[in-house]
Amino acid sequence: MEETLSGARIDPKRLYASLEELGAVGAYDDEGSGLKGVNRLALTDAERDGRALVVRWFKEAGLEVSIDAIGNCYAERPGAVAGSAPVMMGSHIDSVPTAGRFDGCLGVLGALEIIRTLDARKIKTKRPIVAAFFTDEEGCRFGTDMLGSAVATGRIPLDEGYAKTDRDGLTVKAELERTGFLGSEPIGLRKPHAYLECHIEQGPVLRSKNLDLGVVTGVQAICWHELEIRGRSAHAGTTPMSYRKDPGVAAAKINLKLREMTASGEFGPDMRATMGVIRPVPGMINVVPARVVCSADLRNPDDDAMARQEAALIAYYKQVEKEEGVEIRWKRSAQTPRIRFDASVQETIADAADALRLSHERILSGAGHDAQEWSRICKTAMIFVPGEYDGISHNPREYSTEKQCSDGIFTALIALTALANED
Ligand code: GLV
Ligand code: MN
Ligand code: MN
Repeated sequence: MEETLSGARIDPKRLYASLEELGAVGAYDDEGSGLKGVNRLALTDAERDGRALVVRWFKEAGLEVSIDAIGNCYAERPGAVAGSAPVMMGSHIDSVPTAGRFDGCLGVLGALEIIRTLDARKIKTKRPIVAAFFTDEEGCRFGTDMLGSAVATGRIPLDEGYAKTDRDGLTVKAELERTGFLGSEPIGLRKPHAYLECHIEQGPVLRSKNLDLGVVTGVQAICWHELEIRGRSAHAGTTPMSYRKDPGVAAAKINLKLREMTASGEFGPDMRATMGVIRPVPGMINVVPARVVCSADLRNPDDDAMARQEAALIAYYKQVEKEEGVEIRWKRSAQTPRIRFDASVQETIADAADALRLSHERILSGAGHDAQEWSRICKTAMIFVPGEYDGISHNPREYSTEKQCSDGIFTALIALTALANED
């Protein structure tokens, strides 16, 4: 394997500098942390600028760039065997509004770094290599996670993807057009030989065990609800408590219920639940809100437990309607089952890490990733790198060192090359 790569080494400084440069696009001063954060919500002007920068780098590396009908971007390096299915390595460059500079970007810029390394050494692979980034992985703007890769691999129909709206009613299709990323490549054209993704862990496990890497076995089940709770708006001072239909109290009860459910153990030891959106309207100190828009993010590594926890929550919505005299409208905006990654690709990654004498363990992902979508149509696995500060993520303090990042991408170089030389 080492021979095939002719001793090729990725350039950790170049990789880290590219993360820094992309991280400056959409940078803002974060009040909570006092740090510079990244705000590159999908298909905003900032994300468009980030896309333009990465596309420019892809082109400067001599890659053939194409954009598909949902705005996913593919940059292809030809293989020696004409017509063979490529090995794809990708992730996302959109971010939550309060992000650091590593989430998603490491996988995309890591793929670019690998291609730069192979080019510098004039190393040919049998199969083409495709570096890719996908539209709205975070789901923060248009309500569902992994949108671009889910459309590309057939889980979400293109028209359904186009019709999704943000809080201002702007559609995915209109925003793709506005930003110039409504591409011409038809959906469903790409079926890679294999898919690989390197990502920060976004949790504390690898760092706390002082491991260099995680070989990712799969992703836990995810389910998102969007709720609108309607009550009766009234004067905060004059309206007796017995007259109230307060959707704020209803939202608070549901939030506490989520905590009780996780603590009960009834849905397994690893259930997680979060109410990340709580927006009262009109949102004034002395007005009982007319309605509250809120959310529930449910996670569980076990599909049956997930089904039970969702059913219990829906039953509780009914109970709260009665108790508080409110009306609860809800919809399931995202749902993905527990995913298991391909065992042979996990082995290829573990072998690559061993060749570099990097310590590693198998790990299950708590976060959703584009890889889980591609895993439905081709063999797939992921590499995790540790994060400092308890692996904090979706926060500007998110931080992986140059070495942690380059260990992951160096391992990916070896694994990707092995996959790209398979028959
Ligand atoms: C993606 O970041 C997720 O919410 O898991
Ligand atoms: Mn991510
Ligand atoms: Mn994320």
